[in-house]
Order: sequence, then structure tokens, then C-alpha cells
Amino acid sequence: MWDRLYVNARLATLEGNAPYGAIEAGALAIEGATIAYAGPQADLSEPPDGLARQVEDLEGRWMTPGLIDCHTHLVYGGDRAREFELRLEGASYEEIARAGGGIVSTVAATRAASREDLLAAARPRLHALMAEGVTTVEIKSGYGLDLENELKQLWVARRLGEELPVTVKTTFLGAHALPPEAKGDSAAYIDAVVDMMPQVKASGLADAVDAFCETIGFTPEETAKVFIAAQAQGLPVKLHADQLSDLGGAALAARFSALSADHLEYTSDEGIAAMAEAGTVAVLLPGAFYFLRETKLPPIEGFRRAGVPIALATDSNPGSAPVTSLLLMLNMAATFFRMTPEEALRGVTRHGARALGMAETHGTLSVGKAADLAVWDIDHPAELAYRIGFNPLAFAVKAGRRL
Ligand code: NIG
Ligand code: FE
Repeated sequence: MWDRLYVNARLATLEGNAPYGAIEAGALAIEGATIAYAGPQADLSEPPDGLARQVEDLEGRWMTPGLIDCHTHLVYGGDRAREFELRLEGASYEEIARAGGGIVSTVAATRAASREDLLAAARPRLHALMAEGVTTVEIKSGYGLDLENELKQLWVARRLGEELPVTVKTTFLGAHALPPEAKGDSAAYIDAVVDMMPQVKASGLADAVDAFCETIGFTPEETAKVFIAAQAQGLPVKLHADQLSDLGGAALAARFSALSADHLEYTSDEGIAAMAEAGTVAVLLPGAFYFLRETKLPPIEGFRRAGVPIALATDSNPGSAPVTSLLLMLNMAATFFRMTPEEALRGVTRHGARALGMAETHGTLSVGKAADLAVWDIDHPAELAYRIGFNPLAFAVKAGRRL
């Protein structure tokens, strides 16, 4: 006997290459925290009541894998609403960063915040994501920029995953910006980040390592030092790459077999080819593209042609993407990037899982994978990308437990 069986469901399994991996007249069974059956209801061996302790009729609702937001900076102090005003008065994101605002201003607020403060600030943001069916979220540090404060951020991220029914994957982003006390000495700061790596690993608080490779971030050479240190500790890497200029970040990430390279507006053909070769996922962040009023589109057609999997995420952060709606990212990916609604949904399920190294266990409705599910009051899965500011989630299931 299965624990629960959903019948009369339409399944967007995201398996295989058929549109949405759709199964009309489907059924899905849960045993413990795992999917035990996902397929046509007609293929069940007996009437539903004989197969599960609990049977629920979904009345034709669509079920998808729980959504995955694979790139966020959800834990931070303060906000940057004043910076938003400055940009509307004509200052650019880079100018503000160079003048000591930007990321560094969030660093000051994050250092000043206690763990409790950071938890209290992040909780409603995470709740907003979860309300739209997000069951897995990645959270980066990068607003501490010293060992104590980076670990504080990572601890808060882990704690959120223990408190709430959501899987949190954490990423150490010590190489996000130069802290004020580094006084412009980026080489010395990168050495400090490299020195932090064994303690970051030993803390058990980081699942991966990220860096910001950019003219206002770190050079490819500095980024490579951080990656070498990460890999020496057995930590997988990913990269903020080619967001505002082409420094060859995508190719660099691929050279280190990165899980993902993220942003990618300026990625070259060489970068695309290297990512395809390495199996690195392209994580696109349409909310940051929108909020910074970028005009250079990421090379979507190039990724498609090369077979690079494309994931989508909110990039939720106070400066470039104060976004807490993953559904809105589906819409923006379609409107700005001309991704199809199906590609967009794959981007926040199957490919999002792969970007976090979770492809074996998450991201599709497949037997043996985690029973992380979202059930929607929609008639067609394209509606998830079509609507703006409307949440059709009926309910979500996390690790077999209905939320
Ligand atoms: O992904 N690019 C760097 N990091 C963030 C922005 C962080 C911030 O502005 O606070 C991003 O866009
Ligand atoms: Fe980011």
C-alpha cells in the first residue's frame, strides 16, 4: 500500500523531450518522502482504493515538480530602496558600486545584523517563494566578506531550511565584492578568501562556492584562485559570469566543471561551446536583467543550439533583483528572452535541479525522486508563464508531506 495516491491528475513530469513530459489522465503515488508511481491512471494495476491508504482526486488539476529557485541571495540586512531612487535619478549600478554603495552597503547592514535579525528579514522572502510552489532554494552568502559574517549568513540560510519545509542549498560567495577594510587590495582579499575555504568546508555550512567575475567584481585570474581552493576542499563551483561585460567567465566556469554559470548576457560563442562540453548549466536571471534595465540579451539561441540546459532563477537580492516571485521570472523569460513557457518551466524544475547538482533526486515527476510537488489551478501549463502577478497554486507537497 502506498501512503497517498493522487488520481485524475494532469502531470507535467518534465521527463523526456515530449512537451512538458505531459501525461493526461495521470496518477501519482507517494511512499514516505518519495514518488512511487507517476504515469497514466489507466496503467494502475487495481482500483485506486486498493492501492493507497489515502486517495485524492485532483479533478484534472495540473501537477508539476516542486519549483526550484537555483540562485538567490535571500539572506541579507537592510535594503537598497534609496539606491533604486539614485538609479532613477541617473546613476548607474556600476557607478553606485564604484562609489562604495551597492553590494558594500548591504555588507554593512548584514554585518550589523544578528542571526535573529537576518532570519526575521529572510523568512517573509522565503515564504513568498514557497507560496508559489518553490520547494528547493539556493541561498548564497556574499554580504559578510569576512569569515565570521560569511558563516553567519550561511548559518542563517541552513537554519531556514531546518525551520521551514523547503530544501536549502547553500553557497559560499566570499568573492562577491571587495570589503572596505581591504582598501582596494583585491589580491590580498582573494588570498583571505582562499584562506577561509578550509574553515568554510569544515563548518559544513556550504554546499558550493560561487564568485562574481566582473569588472566591478573579480578578475578571471582571481576567480580561478578561489575555484582551485574550493575544489581542493571538494566543493563544487558556480559563477556569476558575463553579466555586465565579457571577461570569459562562462568558459572559465566550464574549465572548472562548474555546476552552473549564471547571468551570461555577454557570453561569447566560445563560452557557450565550453559550457556545452563541460555540461555546465546556464542559469538566466531575467529579474536582474529587468531591474537593471539591461539591453543585451543572453545568447539563448546559442545555448539551445549547443544543447546547454537553461535554468531560471530569481537572483533575489537587494541591489539588482528585489524579486520574490519565481513565477514572474517565467513570464519575464518568455517576454524578454523569448523562451517558450515549456523551456521556462524546465528551467525552474529539471534544469534548476541540475544547476544544484540534484538532478538524480529532484526536478522531475519520476519514480524514486523526492515527492516535492506543486498542484495548480490551471488548464494548461503555459499559464504558469503567461500570467503576471497571479498565483494559481492549489497546494504544494514537500518530501511527501502536504503543505
Ligand atoms: O547576482 N552580481 C552580483 N551579485 C548580485 C547583485 C548583488 C547586489 O547588488 O547586492 C547579482 O546580481
Ligand atoms: Fe546573483
